[in-house]
Amino acid sequence: MKALEGVRILDFTHVQSGPTCTQLLAWFGADVIKVERPGVGDATRKQLVDVPGADSLYFTMLNHNKRSIELNSKHGTGQEVLTRLIEECDVMVENFAPGALDRMGFTWERIHEINPRMILASIKGFGPGQYEDCKVYENVAQCSGGSASTTGFPDGPPLVTGAQIGDSGTGLHLALGIVTALYQRERSGRGQKVSAAMQDGVLNLCRVKMRDQQRLMAGPLEEYSQYGEGLPFGEATPRAGNDSGGGQPGRILRCRGWETDPNAYTYFITQTAVWGPICDLIGRPEWKDAKGYATLPERLDKLDEIFDAIEAWTMTLTKFEVMEICNPLNIPVGPILSMKELMEDEGLRATGTVVDVDHPERGSYVSIGCPIKLSDSPAEVVRSPLLGEHTEEVLSDVLGYSGEDLDRILESGAVGQPKRTASG
Ligand code: COA
Repeated sequence: MKALEGVRILDFTHVQSGPTCTQLLAWFGADVIKVERPGVGDATRKQLVDVPGADSLYFTMLNHNKRSIELNSKHGTGQEVLTRLIEECDVMVENFAPGALDRMGFTWERIHEINPRMILASIKGFGPGQYEDCKVYENVAQCSGGSASTTGFPDGPPLVTGAQIGDSGTGLHLALGIVTALYQRERSGRGQKVSAAMQDGVLNLCRVKMRDQQRLMAGPLEEYSQYGEGLPFGEATPRAGNDSGGGQPGRILRCRGWETDPNAYTYFITQTAVWGPICDLIGRPEWKDAKGYATLPERLDKLDEIFDAIEAWTMTLTKFEVMEICNPLNIPVGPILSMKELMEDEGLRATGTVVDVDHPERGSYVSIGCPIKLSDSPAEVVRSPLLGEHTEEVLSDVLGYSGEDLDRILESGAVGQPKRTASG
């Protein structure tokens, strides 16, 4: 038995943020029914296509373990079916543009009236206020949530990060909101509205940067490299380059092979507790007790010199050798791993975090499995559904339509053309 077995999700999500959330719930065992526009489906099915005619990796990697039903929610019969779905499901998840669900005629009040136990979970770009009507994508959220202004080097422009903290990050936040609302429903018997705004999600992940904003009002941020370099601070938390955030100086340093391999680097933290072993390792034992080097505050204006010396050592080794040597000494280091290395990582494959998935249209592809492991509810990755693959199955098995009633709906034009049958 899976953790969320018996929970049925009406998945009205598209692109990345919402699908991330419902994919997680599906991995935990919920029955996720993805509602898609007839003949079109989630726009990502046809975005960044790498195998002509097949669903893209953008879609397949975000929609595992779901069923797909084609349904025009603006068509009368489609609305009848949607109403039945609301009656039968526990949670409705959506990340339409602001107001789109209301324009379909399904306001929160109406949904709650149809099914008082229904939990309506929504992702929007912004919460209520000045920007609530805006459509928002990943990088807009990174910029408006405080990530971009604090990412990059102090003398360069703001940067967006590769981690999809706006989309996937908010999907994660929403998933927690949903299971929490399900838990409360156990006692209250009532559904509720769960909202997660992408700006709020990004800001939550940038919590330590607002910590620094307040510390800055009390004086310069001594652990930032720019302090040791004598560069003045402005009014806002600055970009910190590759500094480590916890007050222990850290940098990304070159390793052997950096001239040709763009990822031959390691992260290296000069943790105070292991300053002695670091000095021994890099051949500078005198720094252990030398005036100006022995304590962290003394070292802050010499970080360039210190990291240059450490780098002279790391450049003689591969990033993996640095890890092997430093780990037993409790010196925190981290190899910069490329996507290629991660895709081939045996450890990640053994835990199911990286998996091979078979797909009838595109053959085998690599995906990322469930990153959260439940000992009593292991997640198995099942390929994403073809568009409308489960329309008839859901209409009959979940909603109980049969005979003439089923034919009426299938012929109404509200649920797309007769379905493709998956051969795999
Ligand atoms: N049947 C009929 N109509 C459907 C439908 C269905 N099954 N599914 C969607 N539609 C309609 C919607 O009702 C909407 O119509 P309307 O504008 O007439 O009300 C239309 O399709 C477009 O939906 P929308 O959500 O506006 O898509 P978009 O492509 O224009 O915008 C986003 C995409 C992501 C910018 C927008 O959905 C958004 O801001 N979402 C919230 C934030 C978010 O999640 N962003 C990140 C996504 S990774």
